[in-house]
Amino acid sequence: MTEKRVPKHIGIIMDGNGRWAKERGKPRSFGHKKGADILDSVVDACAKHGVNIVSLYAFSTENWSRPQDEIDTLFDILRKFLKKYRKKLLSDKRRLTISGDISKLPDDLRTECEKCVEATKDFTNGTFNIALNYGSRQEIVYAVNRLIGKGKTEITAEDIQSELYTSTLPDIDLVIRTSGEQRLSNFFLWQCAYAELYFTDTYWPDFNEEELVKALDWYASRNRRYGGIENK
Ligand code: IPE
Ligand code: IPE
Ligand code: MG
Repeated sequence: MTEKRVPKHIGIIMDGNGRWAKERGKPRSFGHKKGADILDSVVDACAKHGVNIVSLYAFSTENWSRPQDEIDTLFDILRKFLKKYRKKLLSDKRRLTISGDISKLPDDLRTECEKCVEATKDFTNGTFNIALNYGSRQEIVYAVNRLIGKGKTEITAEDIQSELYTSTLPDIDLVIRTSGEQRLSNFFLWQCAYAELYFTDTYWPDFNEEELVKALDWYASRNRRYGGIENK
């Protein structure tokens, strides 16, 4: 029997918190809180099923267009999550990385991010990458500007890759987007060039291990050709 193919790197677009809360007659913040409460168990389930690198979309560069009180709530939830989760990362020896421009975040949240990244940077039991104030187009522009700053006049794909927030990570193999939307919303466009895309109607706060296994089974059934021919 051949072994089930498992993605090395999963990207998750955690969507549907607002609609989940609305269905329950609750404010959007209720959905965001529940969404953060399940994060830990989903990352654990990924590790249990052999996925060691997980990138989660927490806040996009476009999410600044939301009402300020929702943005404040999201940052507050994230700050609390990171404070609590740091201990778990330390005991699991798992590394936290951040993709995105955290210089624009409130000082205390930025400091919490930096603390977590620094405290876990040498761990090798997998990577938990949070896309925070992240936008793929901005990331690519940032990478190109860094190369220009280094005096490059002609650049290669490898050069760009080396300046991305994810320069130490492999490409994304599988994207999971919850809530029924079928788009990438500026999520790791470069890194997803050959990713398999899985969409589920389940809202993020209801996502769980069973849902993850469905996505992993679907992934294992895909034939990844990378422009070549059928690979049996
Ligand atoms: C995802 O849920 C969380 C973030 C974008 C931060 P949404 O807040 O987008 O929920 P919906 O899509 O409005 O239901
Ligand atoms: C994508 O969800 C961003 C995150 C999950 C953080 P959105 O809810 O912001 O995406 P759109 O607006 O539906 O494309
Ligand atoms: Mg949404």
